Amino acid sequence: MMKIPYGRQTITDSDIAAVVDVLKSDYLTQGPKIPEFEKMVAAYHGAKYAVAFSNGTAALHAAYHALGVTDGDEIITSPITFSATANAAVYLGGKPVFADIDPATNCIDIDGIEERITPRTKVIAPVSFGGYPVDLKRVAALAKKHGVRVLHDAAHAIGSRRDGTFGMEYADIAILSFHPVKHIATGEGGMALTNDAAVYQSLQLFRSHGITKAPELLSENHGPWYYEMISLGYNYRITDIQAALGISQFARIGENLRARNKAAKYYTESLADYDGIELPPSLGFDSIENGGADTVHAYHLFTVRVADPRRRPDMYRYLHEHGVLAQVHYIPVHLLPYYKKRFGYAKGDFPEAEKFYEAELSIPMFHGISEAEREYVAGTIRAYG
Ligand SMILES: Cc1ncc(COP(=O)(O)O)c(C=O)c1O
Repeated sequence: MMKIPYGRQTITDSDIAAVVDVLKSDYLTQGPKIPEFEKMVAAYHGAKYAVAFSNGTAALHAAYHALGVTDGDEIITSPITFSATANAAVYLGGKPVFADIDPATNCIDIDGIEERITPRTKVIAPVSFGGYPVDLKRVAALAKKHGVRVLHDAAHAIGSRRDGTFGMEYADIAILSFHPVKHIATGEGGMALTNDAAVYQSLQLFRSHGITKAPELLSENHGPWYYEMISLGYNYRITDIQAALGISQFARIGENLRARNKAAKYYTESLADYDGIELPPSLGFDSIENGGADTVHAYHLFTVRVADPRRRPDMYRYLHEHGVLAQVHYIPVHLLPYYKKRFGYAKGDFPEAEKFYEAELSIPMFHGISEAEREYVAGTIRAYG
């Protein structure tokens, strides 16, 4: 029997060679591979600056900090996300405020954002859920109207595009994650992208203890060894070992996104007439297959809804028994015990998010999925009846 996870990294011999080269070099961390990785990912996404972090959560923490989130400030995000999107604002004393999802996109309902903006709102943090590119242009218009900032959580959406752009012109910061279930695997890893020089400087300081040697930031200068700590930061650095793996992996990002879209197209066509599930929102697959890239769904996840949610637990069990290791994304953040207790959220607060959670299954979707594997997945789903 096949055993097919919902997500899996692809590591090639050249990835391994790239890591070994760093292990034999002078710098395991704070060396040349980190800026090389940053430049490569920034250029691909149309960003001026990038700062690599030890993980995507650290990038979120640094990002909220750079956008000024502090005690009592509110951020607005989707309840259908990994808890880190909200947690990172809580680290800074912020309060996550949720707006329900739009079932047409499974991302935040942009029409529901404005009524949640208060004088304490600092940041709107839309998530391109599962790789579906959230409509940042509309979010940016709202943010501009109300004088708040935009943090695009693109942990699922490396390389995604809408109307020909990843959207750095609409977001103050975008963050990425390089956890192995995502597109690019560095073990742990993340990155923050920005076009704003002041934000870039803040992200860099936050990553490394608030310490700098940049001459323009020093209050005095005792010599080439001299540094100052000018703000409170963390050790959120990624290593050169990981950056080398990231560079080697990122060289295949186009192939990676095409493979995911090919699998999504296959699932969509082969499950279209199966009425046990509803397929996820699609933006078409042809643009990327033909090498045009105006619209790219990054397909970190392929999220189906079980047509009769009462059957979801049994379908999950059946799929796992047959080696299709489906997963559920996510328990809505407002229903996690910590959030209920600390912020008073309760069941019923965000009905569309809760409806989605009760029906959702993520079926296997990854760069290296083989034809035989995806046929097995679709066949097993159909066989459930
Ligand atoms: C939407 C979203 N944001 C942020 C993160 C945090 O990324 P990391 O796991 O690299 O800390 C994740 C990771 O699962 C995620 O799914």
